[in-house]
Amino acid sequence: MNDTRIVRLGVNIDHVATIRQARLGHEPDPVAAAIMAELAGADGITIHLREDRRHIQDRDLKMLRPVVRWLNLEMAASDAIADLALEYKPDEVTLVPEKRAELTTEGGLDLIANRNQVEKIMKKLSGSGIVISLFIDPDCEQIETARALGAQAIEIQTARYSEAKTKVSIDRELDELREATRFARDLGLHVHMGHGLNYHNVQEVAAIHGVEELNIGHSIISRAVLLGFDRAVKDMKSAIADGVASRVKR
Ligand code: PXP
Repeated sequence: MNDTRIVRLGVNIDHVATIRQARLGHEPDPVAAAIMAELAGADGITIHLREDRRHIQDRDLKMLRPVVRWLNLEMAASDAIADLALEYKPDEVTLVPEKRAELTTEGGLDLIANRNQVEKIMKKLSGSGIVISLFIDPDCEQIETARALGAQAIEIQTARYSEAKTKVSIDRELDELREATRFARDLGLHVHMGHGLNYHNVQEVAAIHGVEELNIGHSIISRAVLLGFDRAVKDMKSAIADGVASRVKR
């Protein structure tokens, strides 16, 4: 786990629950998806229990906890969700911003604007043994604040990189991710990344020295719908391994 040349894959299974919630029924079950993802080589399972419960439900958190090896709960800095985290004890929580109207998480959590609330929730979770990660933009001030707040890890949001269209803008965003990773590692933080990563853009991110965990959902679930979970997770593991292998050559 401490070898930073190994990049863990956290498979975000929210969209399995999205399909289930389309009919408010029982299938497909995210618990079954989590088991299949782990069997295919996922290093962890990530779920976002949103305040509006649009996909993952409390029952999923409850059932996944004893089933998966490494459970990462994405959550807003909310007291009610923190209470559930303390009850079910995921291995890791990732604090994210949350807006009702958004399609998915937009941008990182602004630790400067929300410092008091984030600090309050981190205090509440401290002592529980749950690893705390903060989902933030690749910005030195945000990273310094994460360190000052006592986070063990940050998840750097890769949306701007994933959405970049031209070679110049892609290179610029990658430079930002590299710089932010170096800065965070020098401060002793573990570095995770996620958002918008897919089979084509993940290699360059996995190639960044110091990145230890990638949380990926939409692209894996999209491939799983057509080709099956086993193939979708294995293909992503292999794309990440290609990126990691290129680290030594740079
Ligand atoms: N990391 C965080 C913090 C997220 O909020 C999400 C989306 O739920 C992801 C990673 C996964 O993003 P995507 O579904 O675009 O792979």
